Amino acid sequence: MYIYEGKNYEDVSERAAMVIAAEMMLKPDLVLGLATGSSPVGMYKKLVQWHREGKLDFSQATSVNLDEYKGLGGDHDQSYRYFMNDNLFNHVNIDKEKTHVPNGLEPDADKACAAYNALLDGVGKVDVQVLGLGGNGHIGFNEPDERFTTRTHCVRLEESTIQANARFFASAEEVPTQAYTMGIGDIMSARKIIVIATGEQKAKALYDTICGPVTPRVPGSVLQLHSQVAVFADAAALSLVKEKR
Ligand code: F6R
Repeated sequence: MYIYEGKNYEDVSERAAMVIAAEMMLKPDLVLGLATGSSPVGMYKKLVQWHREGKLDFSQATSVNLDEYKGLGGDHDQSYRYFMNDNLFNHVNIDKEKTHVPNGLEPDADKACAAYNALLDGVGKVDVQVLGLGGNGHIGFNEPDERFTTRTHCVRLEESTIQANARFFASAEEVPTQAYTMGIGDIMSARKIIVIATGEQKAKALYDTICGPVTPRVPGSVLQLHSQVAVFADAAALSLVKEKR
């Protein structure tokens, strides 16, 4: 596992963006696996900047997002579709028809998950998957559990995840309690994976992810079994890794 310690969030974001940019230059029709949340925002800003400067062309790219809240449509300002449009898709020349997010408005979970799995199978291997890390070690919305779930499924969000995400909503009560997420198998089948983690609130999860036993109790720990993972983090997030390693 490659670990880059950045000076600050901007540095970490730029490094992560460099990986995406390099992959896109080598393979313009690549499949990007994308995440939402605070962690990748700076990376998306860099990608938008480089696109505006004429350095990056998204016209042939396809994207698949990790997850979506069940019950939220793309026009809800806290849906992950809205987030992606707002932070990236509206500002680059990606074909929106080739950007994919699970359908949060499909109430039938089996249908929603089967549709997303079929879509993932059709799109083919993700070339580079971007991940943030939950404070509880989740990746996508694969919450700590007794087993790893391979494919897209409907999850009940942990109370800690609801509280962590309440900062984006008027109150914690408004945070949806369920979400559709790609499974661990979907994430692990990407050719390359980058993880962005900053701030001391990620230190324990990052330590467990990188140095702990591989266990579904810390979903991120499964990344130890992937041969092409790069972690972009700041000193605060890496503090326990450096202390205990
Ligand atoms: C988002 C996602 C989540 C977040 C994680 C960290 O699509 O799948 O796993 O990456 O909750 O969130 P932030 O970056 O907001 O700390």
